Amino acid sequence: MANLNSEIEKRRTFAIISHPDAGKTTLTEKLLLFGGAIHVAGAVKSNKIKKTATSDWMEIEKQRGISVATSVMGFNYGDYKINILDTPGHQDFAEDTFRTLTAVDSVIIVVDVAKGVEQQTRRLMEVCRMRHTPVIIFVNKLDREGRDPFDILDELESELQIKVRPLSWPINIGLHFKGVYNIFEGGLDLFTPDKQKVTERVEINDINDPVIDETIGDRDAAKLREDIELIEGVYPEFNVDDYLAGKVAPVFFGSALNTFGVKELLDCFVQIAPSPRPIHALEREVKPEEEKFTGFVFKIHANMDPNHRSCIAFVKICSGVFQRNAPYKHVRHGKILKFAAPTAFMAQKKDIVDEAYPGDIVGIPDSGNFKIGDTLTEGEELHFKGLPSFSPEMFKYIENTDPMKTKQLNKGIEQLMDEGVAQMFTNQFNGRKIIGTVGQLQFEVIQYRLLHEYGAQCRWEPISLYKACWIESDDKEALEAFKKRKHQFMAIDKEGRDVFLADSGYVLQMAQADFPKIRFHFTSEF
Ligand code: G4P
Repeated sequence: MANLNSEIEKRRTFAIISHPDAGKTTLTEKLLLFGGAIHVAGAVKSNKIKKTATSDWMEIEKQRGISVATSVMGFNYGDYKINILDTPGHQDFAEDTFRTLTAVDSVIIVVDVAKGVEQQTRRLMEVCRMRHTPVIIFVNKLDREGRDPFDILDELESELQIKVRPLSWPINIGLHFKGVYNIFEGGLDLFTPDKQKVTERVEINDINDPVIDETIGDRDAAKLREDIELIEGVYPEFNVDDYLAGKVAPVFFGSALNTFGVKELLDCFVQIAPSPRPIHALEREVKPEEEKFTGFVFKIHANMDPNHRSCIAFVKICSGVFQRNAPYKHVRHGKILKFAAPTAFMAQKKDIVDEAYPGDIVGIPDSGNFKIGDTLTEGEELHFKGLPSFSPEMFKYIENTDPMKTKQLNKGIEQLMDEGVAQMFTNQFNGRKIIGTVGQLQFEVIQYRLLHEYGAQCRWEPISLYKACWIESDDKEALEAFKKRKHQFMAIDKEGRDVFLADSGYVLQMAQADFPKIRFHFTSEF
């Protein structure tokens, strides 16, 4: 067995996040090219679901298949083992992305230079901020006309609420884009618009080197020096510890499509990005270098074949060494399980692995044992935190339309909820089941999958709800009084916790004012 510490030190597990179309897929693909994991551009076709009409079922099914293959992309780069965790591009699957963010040690954010910070990036950044996840920002599409880079930096700071520090700087943009000055490594990287060729590097001594004038011309050289002087004056020197603490985000400029600035990004990333970090469990902090294996399920992917209702549970290794066929405890069930066919994800291929280390993800074939958040250990009672459900944004009653298939429907709903497709609440007043999602698309996916995988039929009925909030109080009587007063709007979630269904923002505000002893939570973990 390899040395645990050095295996941990080698690993970089991260996610690339962006608003759709900023260039996440393209950047992922180029990183894989550098890692030798793929050999041709165009091999990664994940996330295209975002571009299809919501009712294009074949497309959704195809996507589900593809996204298993690209869920985790592992490759070696120099001495490093890199794991990229894919996140769905479509905003209706934002919750999937939130959960994936719990399994990464850092994040790269891609921003389109013309569009700046967009809505989804803002939301995802909130999650990173909550978790103090270190982020690096890649400003993409410099080959196209876009905004002034100083404006972009200001916008990143104000919109993402994080300090930024440019580590590369563009020389013009769009048609006149000539390349970047690499502040991190020193050096001039010249741009040649070519999808296959990588950056040409010009060695220079420092920013005053006359080679710069010879290479990019006097005017651009003067402008560059002015910009760099301004940067050095305005932004404090880059401090890795601040980056690791999630306080400052280094910024790179480039063009993913032209493979420009990508290697520089990757080289800096492997140097400064964190290897697996300690993870908080309810009981204690778990350090990756601990000898005993621990891990948790952050994603469940249903099998494509409706005849085999099996899933793949994605387990993030948190500590120790995971071994094939070793007995591990499924903490929620209190059962000992052995896994004969765990898969690792290297270079987009799934292979059975004998062992895996902290930071790695293994896929475990499963037939309904797991749900999101489940913990595996060598016997310890451990519950990892940080996999909250968020209050959904859309709600509908789910109704059975084929009474002969009630059992199938209930089983289907239960499994889809365990997979984290959506959340279910049972109204305590009328006993009806409410499904809550973050987007319309999920209702369609659920209906389709219930029919195709479980042979059950359902229809949706409208319910006008603003938010579902988890409630608690130290004062039992106050809690009971609240539940009594609001009995028509009380529900329980799948774990049996009390949930208040507020039908408007006003009602929620009034409830908060009238019942000061009640705490209202908008995520299921508090
Ligand atoms: P996403 O995963 O973040 O949604 O974005 P994706 O990589 O799919 O990129 C969105 C579009 O932007 C793609 O064009 C892609 O080719 C283009 N793109 C990515 N990086 C750059 C860049 O550096 N410069 C320029 N000019 N374009 C870039 P598309 O036409 O929508 O898709 P495709 O048909 O090219 O795949």
